[in-house]
Amino acid sequence: MEGVALKFPPLKLFNPNFPTFALRSFSSSSSSSSCSASLPVSATAGKEADSALGTLSLGHLTRPDFPILHQKEVNGSKLVYLDNAATSQKPHQVLKALQSYYAGYNSNVHRGIHYLSAKATDQYELARKKVADFINAEESQEIVFTRNATEAINLVAYSWGISNLKPGDEVLLTVAEHHSAIVPWQLVAQRTGAVLRFVDLDENEVPEVEKLRESISRKTKLVVVHHVSNVLASFLPIKHIARWVHDVGGKILVDACQSVPHIVVDVQELDADFLVASSHKMCGPTGIGFLYAKSDILSAMPPFLGGGEMISDVFLDHSTYADPPSRFEAGTPAIGEAIGLGAAIDYLQGIGMQKIHDYETELANYLYESLSTIPNVRIYGPRPSEKVKRAALCSFNVEDVHPTDLATLLDQQHGVAIRSGHHCAQPLHRYLGVNASARASLHFYNTKDDVDDFINALSETVSFLNSFK
Ligand SMILES: Cc1ncc(COP(=O)(O)O)c(C=O)c1O
Repeated sequence: MEGVALKFPPLKLFNPNFPTFALRSFSSSSSSSSCSASLPVSATAGKEADSALGTLSLGHLTRPDFPILHQKEVNGSKLVYLDNAATSQKPHQVLKALQSYYAGYNSNVHRGIHYLSAKATDQYELARKKVADFINAEESQEIVFTRNATEAINLVAYSWGISNLKPGDEVLLTVAEHHSAIVPWQLVAQRTGAVLRFVDLDENEVPEVEKLRESISRKTKLVVVHHVSNVLASFLPIKHIARWVHDVGGKILVDACQSVPHIVVDVQELDADFLVASSHKMCGPTGIGFLYAKSDILSAMPPFLGGGEMISDVFLDHSTYADPPSRFEAGTPAIGEAIGLGAAIDYLQGIGMQKIHDYETELANYLYESLSTIPNVRIYGPRPSEKVKRAALCSFNVEDVHPTDLATLLDQQHGVAIRSGHHCAQPLHRYLGVNASARASLHFYNTKDDVDDFINALSETVSFLNSFK
């Protein structure tokens, strides 16, 4: 495998010539005036938005909806937020939904008969329906609200996994999975005797799909794969993988954390058995995510957590359980957060997921091409082409520069927020021969100007760091 051998000499970041986090003051002043001059998506939906798109990019059109992006000063600079794969920003519409729940009808769900509780329950269940419609689930009951995608994967591992996996059964993954999709299966494999098998990358630095196909056998009980990689920016052909694993009687769990916020995801078309995503990456609040599972599979699964809400009857020596999805939602759920997620889905659908995908593909190519101009840069994942689409993110290293030094200086000197580290994909980084990488990740409210700002800042930072050599 070709690769740049990277050495990471520690940069003396606390040299008094450099401003440090401690010496800088953080200003979080958000400009409401800039928002009042906004062109919210809701006001430009449909044809008007189409014609407006002729002159203004989707990023320019939607940014006014995101108050956080209008901070005048982050470390002395205008904020350029390029850490969207970690978490997305929230539009006014979502903030308003949270505010109106807490200020107007905060109450527990499924329990009270009073007005507030009935309203909260209706809105909570409406949010479930919005999620179901968004990913084209057959019915709302196939959606279980969880704390995040990680909890959704753990739910499947501890409920379906423990009761279905036997010694020698195989769970097939790729080396590019997020820790959230690996560790729960390690824990369950230890308890069940199941075996985890991992598919490597091919020469284009995407998981080797042919190898994955060949690795599927009668022993394969589950394939756990990402839809879009949070490091490589690559897409996996989920529909095909689902067919191959279904042919041998196995199931597929799709980690859709990096696809659901950016592209059209249709669980029926993909024929996914399980699919998970997190609200906070799709312009919704933190603290809520969801599991989609086909209804027959969900109905046969035992509870994951015990407590209120998930029961039918409780006796001193045993209990009977509610039907899904309640069976898997023990205790008071994240009600306001679910309602906020519903508002985020309304917002995304107001724009249109295909429109978001098309625009982000353009941004993805622009980001890749622009970043490629930086001397000695190594971008991970496939090269974009007519046939190969990348998500709008780039994980990269610059030879002999530590990615955390890059991220720190981009933030402190330029207000550019990117991520550095292993992005919860340590096995993948090990496979790529590095400890860490820097990652710039975009969403539909980013613009080519953001990419230009990032590249200019990166170029200056690399020159600056190289001047110490
Ligand atoms: C591909 C992928 N899977 C899973 C996760 C876990 O998401 P969460 O931390 O919201 O549970 C992430 C988050 O970074 C991710 O990018």
